[in-house]
Amino acid sequence: MIVAIVYRRHGKNSSLENCEYQYLGHNNVMQTHFQTTQSHANPDVIDFGAGHPGDALLPRTLMHAAAAQRLAQPDASLLQYGLEQGDGYFRHALAAFLSRRYAAPVDMDHLFVSSGASQALDLICTLYTQPGDAIFVEEPTYFLALRIFADHRLRVIPIATDAQGLDIDALEAALKKQRPAFLYIIPTHQNPSGATLPLARRQRLVELSTQHNFLIVADEVYHLLSYAASPPPPLAAFADSGTVLGLGSFSKILAPGLRLGWVQAAPQHMTRLYTSGLLDSGGGLNPFTSALVRVALEEGWEDAHLDELLAVYRQRIAVLDAALQAELGDTVRYATPTGGYFFWLRLPDALDGETLLQRAAAHKVGFRPGVRFSGCGGLRNYLRLSFAFYAEEQLREGVRRLRAAMQSL
Ligand SMILES: Cc1ncc(COP(=O)(O)O)c(C=O)c1O
Repeated sequence: MIVAIVYRRHGKNSSLENCEYQYLGHNNVMQTHFQTTQSHANPDVIDFGAGHPGDALLPRTLMHAAAAQRLAQPDASLLQYGLEQGDGYFRHALAAFLSRRYAAPVDMDHLFVSSGASQALDLICTLYTQPGDAIFVEEPTYFLALRIFADHRLRVIPIATDAQGLDIDALEAALKKQRPAFLYIIPTHQNPSGATLPLARRQRLVELSTQHNFLIVADEVYHLLSYAASPPPPLAAFADSGTVLGLGSFSKILAPGLRLGWVQAAPQHMTRLYTSGLLDSGGGLNPFTSALVRVALEEGWEDAHLDELLAVYRQRIAVLDAALQAELGDTVRYATPTGGYFFWLRLPDALDGETLLQRAAAHKVGFRPGVRFSGCGGLRNYLRLSFAFYAEEQLREGVRRLRAAMQSL
């Protein structure tokens, strides 16, 4: 229990970065906590595992301007319990932004405001599954989604993928054995593989979902981070089928700390989501943040920020690609990503990603070993590198360290 919070400023600069807080713990012992963020980067280590943007890419100026503009208005509604589906003005601005960026119309009434894709996924598990239900996931899949599914005691059944994402024949074979409560899929710039599902497979997948009566939960958080040709339309564009719930997030296109995202789905799913007990008790999710991000959307600041991110990440891919070719070209195999955050490297079969990770610590480099993305303990000779957190020179240095770690094995 927090008994007392003591704020103390130090240094000449009175910014919040120089403000530490302390609290009295259970036994009235003063404890000091300097950490605000979920992960704490060690400056000596280059951790390719960090799947979030570096601080230099976070929109401090933009959010300052958005907050100043919105809070100058004589209207306190953003501080009230919010409309359950999410602020209508924000959904209107979001629908316009998505329609433009997806090049496909998005109806504001088909959008539900969430506190990010993770929270939406958790709510969907709460509302659409029972403990013990089977769900299908891609092999590999986003490792932290597996944690959410474990919280809900779901039975995770991995379905094979290839270079173009979910193998629809393998899905069809699995459907002959059982019907899942839902299929969780990351159709565009997949985490970790980077694969993008072609249009024909998207169409077949949606047909199968209506034939076999299962839901598709499409996690599309990387859809707008496309660095080359435009990807096929998001699976959310098939929401009229009634079987697709598309998840989006501002974490990857603005800032993860906003905890703001959306679900795009047919009206019957909207009602299911916003009439849940959670929304009834707490009101709409994140009304304050939505009100500020609405300004960023309406002023075109989100578009400009996203375009900057695309330019930075495109360049980082080129740098990391060149470094990997130069240092590890004869050891690892990969497809150069065309979007998202990640390189997915295949190591020689005999090399184990977790063993390499232990060795890499001595070389002050980190990454995520492939086995963590497996629904069945496989993928041991893969590893995932993220280029979202580090600038170009650190990416080059990280690959040099990775080579040294591999050579030492
Ligand atoms: C595929 C995928 N889904 C969801 C998330 C988390 O999204 P959010 O921050 O919106 O909860 C991530 C972040 O790494 C991700 O890679």
